[in-house]
Amino acid sequence: MKFGALVSLCFVGQALSHYTFPHLIVNGVTLPAWQNVRQTDNYYDLNPVEDVSDVNLRCYNKNTNAKAKTIDVPAGANLGFAPNKAVYHEGTLNVYMAKVPSGSSAAEWDGAGTVWFKVHEITPKTDGGKTISYPTDNLTQFEFKLPQALPTGEYLVRVEHIALQDAARLGGAQFYISCGQINVTGGGSGKPGPLVAIPGVYNGNEPGINIDIYWPIPAKYVQPGPAVWRG
Ligand SMILES: *[C@@H]1O[C@H](CO)[C@@H](O)[C@H](O)[C@H]1NC(C)=O
Ligand SMILES: *[C@@H]1O[C@H](CO)[C@@H](O)[C@H](O)[C@H]1NC(C)=O
Repeated sequence: MKFGALVSLCFVGQALSHYTFPHLIVNGVTLPAWQNVRQTDNYYDLNPVEDVSDVNLRCYNKNTNAKAKTIDVPAGANLGFAPNKAVYHEGTLNVYMAKVPSGSSAAEWDGAGTVWFKVHEITPKTDGGKTISYPTDNLTQFEFKLPQALPTGEYLVRVEHIALQDAARLGGAQFYISCGQINVTGGGSGKPGPLVAIPGVYNGNEPGINIDIYWPIPAKYVQPGPAVWRG
């Protein structure tokens, strides 16, 4: 009984420190939870993905198989996400997008293939080994500008916060992920890239994923994934 209570306390403690990204933000408007973001398998327990080869690294909706409502977003608009509560763990953030192939829709497509490009990142700050700091600490929302050159059409937009407190252990980095559905209007003729597959983009050995962030203090931080496409 006592042991059970202790175990469930620990479990609750874990869940309190974990998070999801259920809200899309379009031009400053925070949309309701899971309205334009596919509800993830961890919507209740908030647990991260740790296996970078799991298909759940993509949109984390293997079990829910959830789809969301697709929202119109003009190219050049500010887009963002908000977590269910302030980001707790030290880590780094990436946003990827993938254009829905013709004949499919953001409401149906699973995002398979070498189709994802990076549109935003919020990386830890280092100064040669004296300190390391995390701009995503206590983050309650973020926004970035979509390139004006982004072609018109439907996209999946995927946020990942990679929590690094346990990343000294191979496979210990924690991925907090979700995918929104947007319909870009008034876009341009850019060619987004480089393109990667998710899963596939990481093998877990990257210097920014398998890293001891505490000792020695990293002299630099190498952001995982491809360069940001800025149009
Ligand atoms: C985040 O919040 C915690 C708890 O309130 C606080 O101790 C810490 O200094 C904050 N970190 C930053 C970077 O603001
Ligand atoms: C996307 O926007 C175009 C242009 O406004 C519109 O014709 C189309 O119906 C929209 N698609 C979705 C899924 O909302």
